Amino acid sequence: MSDILFHREIPEDLDTVRNVNMLAFGQSTEGDIVDVIRLSCPEAISFVAVEGECVVGHILFTPVTIDGSSIAGGMGLAPMSVLPEKQQLGIGSNLVYAGLDQFRKADCPFVIVLGHPGYYPRFGFKPASQYGMSCQWTGVPDEAFMILVLKEEVLKGIQGIIRYRTEFDVGL
Ligand SMILES: CC(C)(COP(=O)(O)OP(=O)(O)OC[C@H]1O[C@@H](n2cnc3c(N)ncnc32)[C@H](O)[C@@H]1OP(=O)(O)O)[C@@H](O)C(=O)NCCC(=O)NCCS
Repeated sequence: MSDILFHREIPEDLDTVRNVNMLAFGQSTEGDIVDVIRLSCPEAISFVAVEGECVVGHILFTPVTIDGSSIAGGMGLAPMSVLPEKQQLGIGSNLVYAGLDQFRKADCPFVIVLGHPGYYPRFGFKPASQYGMSCQWTGVPDEAFMILVLKEEVLKGIQGIIRYRTEFDVGL
C-alpha cells in the first residue's frame, strides 16, 4: 500500500481509468458513464490510486440534488473500482477517504452512495431514510441507499428524493 499514491485524476490517467472500470465491473457501462460525465460535468471529481505508472483504482463523485430544495454542494459517490487483483488491500477505502477529506474541507453538506450496506457504514454512511431522504430509483433496498452528513445544520428540516445526474439514468 505504501507504494500506491492517491491523487486527483489527470488527463494521462483517462485510458487506464476506463480499463480499471472495465476490469472491475466486467462491462463497459460504468466506464462509459465516467467518460460522459467527465465532459458534461465540470463539478465531477475523480480520484485515482496509482502504482508505479499504472492506475489501479478509481472513484468518481458527482453533484446530486434534493427535490424541492435549493441545497447545493451535495455529492454522490459512484462508480468506484479497483483492479480485481488489487482488491481487498484497502485501496477502495483510501479512495473513499480521499474524496471525503476533500469534501470536508470544501464545506460539502453531504455525500450519498447506493452500495453495499456491509461496506460503506465504516466511513460513517447511514441509511438515508434516517434523514428522511430517499433514492430516485424504485426497488432499492432501504439500507443500500446511504448518506454521510457532513454539515448537519444545512440539512436541518430538509427531506426528499435525492437525484443523481441524468447521465446515470442508463443504469449502473
Ligand atoms: C468495491 C471495491 C471498489 C472495493 O475496493 P477494495 O480496494 O477491494 O476495498 P478495500 O480493500 O478498501 O475494502 C475491502 C472490503 O470491502 C468489502 N467489499 C468489497 N466489495 C464488496 C461488495 N461488492 N459488497 C460488499 N462488500 C464488498 C470486502 O468484503 C472488504 O471488507 P472487509 O474489510 O470487512 O473485509 C472493489 O471490490 C471493486 O472494484 N469491486 C467491483 C466494482 C464494484 O462493485 N464497485 C462498487 C460499486 S460502484
